[in-house]
Amino acid sequence: MKIAPSLLSCDFSKMGEEIERMDLAGADWMHLDVMDGHFVPNITFGAPVIKAVRKFSNRPFDVHLMISDPLKYIDDFADAGADIITFHVECDSDIDDTIAKIKSRGIKPGLVLKPNTPAWTVFPYLEKLDLVLVMTVEPGFGGQSFMPEMMPKVKEIKRECQRRGLNNILIEADGGIGRDTIEQASEAGVDVCVAGTAVFRAADPAKAIELFKSF
Ligand code: DX5
Ligand code: ZN
Repeated sequence: MKIAPSLLSCDFSKMGEEIERMDLAGADWMHLDVMDGHFVPNITFGAPVIKAVRKFSNRPFDVHLMISDPLKYIDDFADAGADIITFHVECDSDIDDTIAKIKSRGIKPGLVLKPNTPAWTVFPYLEKLDLVLVMTVEPGFGGQSFMPEMMPKVKEIKRECQRRGLNNILIEADGGIGRDTIEQASEAGVDVCVAGTAVFRAADPAKAIELFKSF
């Protein structure tokens, strides 16, 4: 299992150091949650902040856009140093255009599904994607409870990818993942787990990441 700590749970007064700390603790990717206060009821940070902290790690920056019109901002996040950009299938931008824009900047695109969004909504785009992110909480806040009822959705997407021979698409899960829930995600076929609270609140984040990676 790959682990992507969500910086949403970090100490924002020293975000650069927090990224360094996660890098040293063995994080595979850095997960950066961008919220616009419109697509979700919370506001976090944008491209200038990501650009400022980019130099603190060489690990891939996995930028999760919870914004209404991602297409408008792809260049900004590309310039900021994103390696992966995921955006929501429920957003207002044209999905194909947004994927094309992300790819034109040499970045890996992924689509995200909110808990109430069915698996089939991403099927038309699978051939163009590097990953699919299944939300296991309602997007907007860290520290919520994992929704085990999302696991059939993970399996459905995985099955469809396999049926089409798309064996390189990664399935990522985000929300409420920790020592009590990661096994379910792993068993359902999740390849990358985002973890905010479980990593940042751990007494020893390196140990937590090591444990999570073993699933
Ligand atoms: C929620 C974010 C998640 C969140 C995960 O909208 O997308 O990345 O920070 O935090 P935990 O692991 O605490 O649920
Ligand atoms: Zn996220």
